[in-house]
Amino acid sequence: MSDPFRRSARIDAVELSEILKISELADALKREGRDVITLGTGEPDFPTPAPVIEAAHKAALAGETTYTLTAGTLALRKAIGEACQRENGYRPETGEIIVCTGAKQVLYNAFAATLDPGDEVLIVAPYWTSYPDIITVCDGKAVVLPTSAETGFRITPDQLRTAIGPKTRWLLLNSPSNPSGAAYSKDDLEALAEVLRDAPHVGIMVDEIYQHISYVPFHSFRAVAPDLADRTLIVNGVSKSYAMTGWRIGWGIGPKRLISAMVAVQSQITSGASSVSQAAAVAALEGDQQLLAERCDDFRERRDMLAAALNATGVLDCPSADGAFYLFPGCARAFGKVTVKGRRIETDADFCEALLEEEGVALVPGRAFGTPGYIRLSYAYSRASLTEAATRIARFCANLK
Ligand SMILES: Cc1ncc(COP(=O)(O)O)c(C=O)c1O
Repeated sequence: MSDPFRRSARIDAVELSEILKISELADALKREGRDVITLGTGEPDFPTPAPVIEAAHKAALAGETTYTLTAGTLALRKAIGEACQRENGYRPETGEIIVCTGAKQVLYNAFAATLDPGDEVLIVAPYWTSYPDIITVCDGKAVVLPTSAETGFRITPDQLRTAIGPKTRWLLLNSPSNPSGAAYSKDDLEALAEVLRDAPHVGIMVDEIYQHISYVPFHSFRAVAPDLADRTLIVNGVSKSYAMTGWRIGWGIGPKRLISAMVAVQSQITSGASSVSQAAAVAALEGDQQLLAERCDDFRERRDMLAAALNATGVLDCPSADGAFYLFPGCARAFGKVTVKGRRIETDADFCEALLEEEGVALVPGRAFGTPGYIRLSYAYSRASLTEAATRIARFCANLK
């Protein structure tokens, strides 16, 4: 008998996230009383700044508890425009900005608004795990451009030129990147822009959510290629920079015809983002910005400590990272070896599973990001957790035979 709740073909194609699988295994071990350290999650361990929380409280007491404009409050869109001017040197108009329930919804809105079945979106591997699934849910087809540590996890202009075809609707870039930490320099972006100038049918979506966690100078694509602004969508938000993942505020900056289509999509899904969270985001963008640099320095120190420890294992090859709070070392030197408890390691997933079972450290295999042979570690954790995790990883690697 046909099940009325069978999954639609569209949703059936969406995989259960590899990250969730590892978290479920880690949770099961914790329930058994095991001491498990998780370096799997992508969220800052800092608190949301107190003045931001106070602003939200005040806004709620002042009655800012009703629906807002679907595209976002005028106050927040003004604050986003000013922050963009201050940080990136361009000032988008109010009508070029949409506020969404997290940066994730910016992606959904944009793809839902523009993709027809079979339209292609170029994404760069290693990619944030949600990219291909969001594209699938929106009826598009993700076309993966592979990179490796040798190319600094960045695509080359030639690679992009070859990949663009008649069905390509978007190129999706993420800089600095989750999971590789790679960032595109100004020269890199200029070279990619040059290729894109010859492909006027391609939209350019650049996810700049890690803008403020960058250890090299950050360049927004729209500032580097202002002549392409008419087909560029910048994705950003407060989640990572201001430690506001739970407030769910992200935004898109793009041409008005795209933004108004995205507003139409959003108006039928969630309406405007939370009114109180929007007030909080205004306070974040207009408040003390010094903390961004301080937090970035703190992440950089943790990056250096963890990368040095991983390279010292002699098994993991850990390039440094330009930004975000992830390291993405290669683990291929462990392949063909056997753990102390007799598990044979042939893949990145084997490595992660054995490390979790035997040493209680939860990491995510590179295949979850479209790049097998690597593992991802988040260092947005306390120094004590990172030191303990590094000790356990070193012991695990030293015992491989
Ligand atoms: C690259 C990237 N883009 C977007 C997001 C989603 O951000 P938000 O929490 O604002 O939806 C994440 C979250 O992990 C991310 O890593």
